[in-house]
Amino acid sequence: MRTTVGIIGGGPAGLLLARLLHHAGIDCVVLEARTREYVEQRQRAGMLEQGTVDALRECGAADRLVAQGLVHQGIELRFDRERHHIDFPVLTGGRTVTIYAQTEIVKDLVALQLADGPPLLFEAEALTIEKPVSDTPVVRFVHEGREQTLSCEWVVGCDGFHGIARDTFPPGTGRTYAHDYPYSWLGILADVAPSCDELIYARGESGFALHSMRSPRVSRLYLQVPNGTDPDDWPDDRIWDELAARFAIDADWTLHRGPITAKSVTPMRSYVHEPMRHGRLLLAGDAAHIVPPTGAKGLNLAVSDVRLLARAFAELHRTGSEQLLDRYSASCLARVWQATRFSYDMTTMLHTRPDADPFDHRLQLARLRRITASRHAAAELAANYTGLPLEW
Ligand code: FAD
Ligand code: DHB
Repeated sequence: MRTTVGIIGGGPAGLLLARLLHHAGIDCVVLEARTREYVEQRQRAGMLEQGTVDALRECGAADRLVAQGLVHQGIELRFDRERHHIDFPVLTGGRTVTIYAQTEIVKDLVALQLADGPPLLFEAEALTIEKPVSDTPVVRFVHEGREQTLSCEWVVGCDGFHGIARDTFPPGTGRTYAHDYPYSWLGILADVAPSCDELIYARGESGFALHSMRSPRVSRLYLQVPNGTDPDDWPDDRIWDELAARFAIDADWTLHRGPITAKSVTPMRSYVHEPMRHGRLLLAGDAAHIVPPTGAKGLNLAVSDVRLLARAFAELHRTGSEQLLDRYSASCLARVWQATRFSYDMTTMLHTRPDADPFDHRLQLARLRRITASRHAAAELAANYTGLPLEW
């Protein structure tokens, strides 16, 4: 098999890149290790920046998003049994965010790709990338029980944090920066109407909780839990009781409870791999960087990466210039580090470290009070949350 751009990974990064390249008249092949059902059901992100919505709209993948996505004008911060609204349009000159599940984005992109796009192969696991520093890199992969090769001009690793592309960088050609956090998230999906109109980020006495949603009838909630937590140790009543305690305020408000349909624990980590290019191998999305989920930057960063990459390939296709491809890694990393900083700040401001002392608690409250007391501080949060510019 032969193509111009070989894309490893059919998550949001790989699928959106394929659509953008298709629109620019550049051919590509997407290799996805898992089944279609698996990638379409994997529960993850839900909060989309305006730039992410725009990118999906520009490539014709936003019909359902526009019809069913929930546009939010802000978020609520809860601490000290008080609630505070952060008004995004007022603080940012009109920006909003949209709640639409990653599972639905993947379904929309897969359907388009299978209808009119270049090949998207499921159960096609990339094994190795050969000759990345040459004009003819090759991806070896297994599909339908036999080993095959994909000869490319360029290879893009969109294969997530546990993929193979990043490991293809020879020792000494890259550097990683990592930070592990001393807590995890227990995430649930529940068949119950959300108890709020906008997302609630709560700093409770016993830890963080987040109230999000997937639709007017489905709630998505997260709870800070110790690392190594077994979800089976959290029966449904215990989860609802703990969520209710962390969201509690001195006002009339009730957390609606309902049947829990999914439960999983996610560890939290910041990780950046520099650079994001080795010869003709480029990385995009979680393959190059991950952030802790507080602040919802992961999917949005993946989308920003592939927007820049598609633009660079389009320029190469149109003019023969590799200038934008040469700038790709540095352009992405500038924005990635800003999101890494923001996610770290949000995480450490709202979660309770197991070894936290009274000084830490007071400091967290002072950080939160600053945001709710100062328009300047609130505007800084709003600018980061709704999305920084694509290029720095
Ligand atoms: P992935 O989604 O991981 O896709 C990579 C794909 O590559 C997978 O389909 C995998 O099967 C495939 N693959 C791997 N290895 C190979 C191989 N060898 N060959 C072929 N295919 C391979 N982000 C937000 O922006 N907003 C949020 O609200 C948010 N909430 C989150 C909540 C949780 C609980 C979690 C865990 C994450 C959240 N994120 C959020 C992060 C977001 O989900 C990820 O950043 C996003 O999935 C990254 O997309 P990706 O395409 O880069 O990687
Ligand atoms: C969601 C996840 C997040 O990490 C976040 O900050 C906001 C929303 C979600 O899954 O809906």
